[in-house]
Amino acid sequence: MNDDQTICLCFDVPRRKVIQFIRTQHPKSASQLSECFGAGTGCGWCRPFLKRLWESESPESESLPAASDYAKARDEYRKHQ
Ligand code: FES
Repeated sequence: MNDDQTICLCFDVPRRKVIQFIRTQHPKSASQLSECFGAGTGCGWCRPFLKRLWESESPESESLPAASDYAKARDEYRKHQ
């Protein structure tokens, strides 16, 4: 698992920053993760992944797809927006 993997590709926000934000700021909703360097406020692709981290009892153990697969899937998502 790579904590440096970028979870929000629009704003280049690494997973580590989001987890740190969750641990220190205790956001009341997943949408408040947008206060972490704008995560989730671009194309919207990462929102389900952000929500998964927010909902998790142990966000450090939540994994993302491999970085290349994640980026490819996001490109496809953006083509259909
Ligand atoms: S990848 Fe996060 S808003 Fe686009």
